[in-house]
Amino acid sequence: MTEPVVDVHLAEDHAARALAADARVGLSATPKVLPPKWFYDARGSDLFEQITRLPEYYPTRAEREILGDRAGEIAAASQARTLVELGSGSSEKTRLLLDALHAAGSLRQFVPLDVSRTALRDAAEALAVDYPALEVHGVVGDFTEHLALLPGEAPRVVAFLGGTIGNLLPVERAKFLASLRDVLQPGEWLLLGTDLVKDPETVRVAYDDAAGVTAEFNKNVLHVLNRELGADFDVDAFDHVAKWDPDSEWVEMRLRAQRAMRVRIPALDMVVSFTEGEELHTEISAKFRRETIAAELADTGFELTEWWTDKQDRFGLSLSRAV
Ligand SMILES: C[S@@+](CC[C@H](N)C(=O)[O-])C[C@H]1O[C@@H](n2cnc3c(N)ncnc32)[C@H](O)[C@@H]1O
Repeated sequence: MTEPVVDVHLAEDHAARALAADARVGLSATPKVLPPKWFYDARGSDLFEQITRLPEYYPTRAEREILGDRAGEIAAASQARTLVELGSGSSEKTRLLLDALHAAGSLRQFVPLDVSRTALRDAAEALAVDYPALEVHGVVGDFTEHLALLPGEAPRVVAFLGGTIGNLLPVERAKFLASLRDVLQPGEWLLLGTDLVKDPETVRVAYDDAAGVTAEFNKNVLHVLNRELGADFDVDAFDHVAKWDPDSEWVEMRLRAQRAMRVRIPALDMVVSFTEGEELHTEISAKFRRETIAAELADTGFELTEWWTDKQDRFGLSLSRAV
């Protein structure tokens, strides 16, 4: 086995400093808002893994079905020497791609990138054991900031799975796709997983499961604020809310204050007031249509070459070439 290399592009105090900046701005805004990347400390990453196994949470199973059917085609089309994975988490489904690229004989290196140190290190170590011939080069970083620092020999396939692109607002999404296109050579590949528009209740319950795991995941951001910034959020005094927005075609997760309260955040020298019923916006998860994602890819310099869905048309996986 080759020991995995892990580059860390986030400073030790990144959680405290960048979270402080986001919290200062977001908790002063109307409505109050925090970026979803702050869910993912070790506990948040673990809760997300539990979510992927819930009966209501179809996206992981649907995307795994497509990857199981199509990994061979992806390997044959791309002949990738490097597989990059953004927001890689546990990289469990990615093993289907690694197996296919290994069988095709082209793959040398796997480059997972994630903001969660623990998820990244655990995945990199497990993969280095299970794929001894593979060079695993992990990157702890932010995919909205650190794309230019990605290692790896061309041709590369950049996988962005799990529907994570749906957590970006449309303007952030366009910026992200343009930045990614900038760091790729013409002919390199983007493999993009997008959850699809479907009946609203199926989508909503995927973000509001009966066992309450998604509620714990959502509230985890308050535990992160308490730990990193010394805040005194009463986590149990917030309710988890998942709401379908038919105009934007996204699910919104929010945390609703059960009563009026004042929260002290000593690291920011700030007191934040909530009125009863006030909601803190924590995540959007946009759902896509083939035509809109193809247009967004074309606008940012990608040509969509393949589009696959699972048998129930719940989830789309697109393979696009940088032009
Ligand atoms: C919805 S989960 C998907 C995980 C995995 N790709 C999958 O398909 O199951 C999102 C992942 O992206 C990571 N993440 C979220 N925001 C990020 C950011 N700005 N930069 C890097 N990683 C991020 C999280 O830590 C988490 O592992």
